[in-house]
Amino acid sequence: MKFKTSSEEETSAFGRFLGEQLQRPLTILLEGDLGAGKSVIARALARGLGVPENIPITSPTFTLMNHYPARIDLYHFDLYRLADAEELIEIGFDDFAHSDGVALVEWPERLADREFDHLLVQIDRLSADCREIAVSAHGIEPQALLGCLQKWLLTQ
Ligand SMILES: Nc1ncnc2c1ncn2[C@@H]1O[C@H](COP(=O)(O)OP(=O)(O)O)[C@@H](O)[C@H]1O
Ligand SMILES: [Mg+2]
Repeated sequence: MKFKTSSEEETSAFGRFLGEQLQRPLTILLEGDLGAGKSVIARALARGLGVPENIPITSPTFTLMNHYPARIDLYHFDLYRLADAEELIEIGFDDFAHSDGVALVEWPERLADREFDHLLVQIDRLSADCREIAVSAHGIEPQALLGCLQKWLLTQ
């Protein structure tokens, strides 16, 4: 599934809807260059998942991972500064990514493999305010979610 947004607000609306739909643990990979809108989606998704508005969602640039209790616990990763596979183990990626929570991963390009079920969101910056967002499912659970997203898109 692929669509375009022409403002941060439109991209946020997608992120929030995605967060609202999550009923089970899932890993979501967010691909896109610097400034594409990965963190915009992460913040909106967190709200949709029930992280209260008074809790700021900050980028885990140096900590690599932030944890937010919510309807389903959210583990927000930003792997941009990941040094090596060992560091990935240190921050507990495998424990959180395949746990009872939602793992949301910016810069999944840093991962050595993707041999786990996940929803992949790829953001392309077309111009200052336009983004093309492609969503694909890898696994049965993510596939069901993709169906929901497709229906939602038709109403937009
Ligand atoms: N259609 C759009 N969707 C998402 N962000 C947009 C859009 N148009 C402009 N922007 C801007 O692009 C930037 C995206 O930043 P950010 O989410 O931090 O990127 P990333 O985390 O991918 O590096 C924000 O400043 C946002 O306001
Ligand atoms: Mg970011």
